[in-house]
Amino acid sequence: MITEEQARRVRERLEREAAPLEERDARASRCVEILAAELPHYDWVGIYWLEGNELVLGPFRGAPTEHVRIPVGRGVCGTAVAEDRNQVVEDVGGLSNYLACSLETRSEIVVLIRDGEGGILGQIDADGHARGAFDGSDEALLEEAARLVAGGRKGEEP
Ligand code: SME
Repeated sequence: MITEEQARRVRERLEREAAPLEERDARASRCVEILAAELPHYDWVGIYWLEGNELVLGPFRGAPTEHVRIPVGRGVCGTAVAEDRNQVVEDVGGLSNYLACSLETRSEIVVLIRDGEGGILGQIDADGHARGAFDGSDEALLEEAARLVAGGRKGEEP
């Protein structure tokens, strides 16, 4: 759950620090940095890029994960791509198709990063140690972040 004040700060920093960066990878790194710094319930946050039929780990903050390549359909991350929709999981303990990054993780959110035509470029993934850490307010803010990572400032990139 994100407060209005947190959302305001994240939006302001994304706009000021990430949007002007021309390279998508640079925007992605800065975006992850900002989310990790401003949102204490994001115990792990990172970006996976879709390469063919696999998700490949990009920038992240938090404990290193063994899941650096995830096939589409595997885990919460792969399910988001297979089902072409974001995932908000209140309690990962209830999932059979789940790839544990840390034993402390209880909840997870995955928001897809899409290109201008709706195609999937990758995803923003966050893990929380608390049960039910993420809700629609997280999803809405991460969707804004995902649009910014995908395209930067309007008109600056096709
Ligand atoms: N839990 C994810 C794997 C990625 S880690 O959380 C960083 C999943 O089930 O797909």
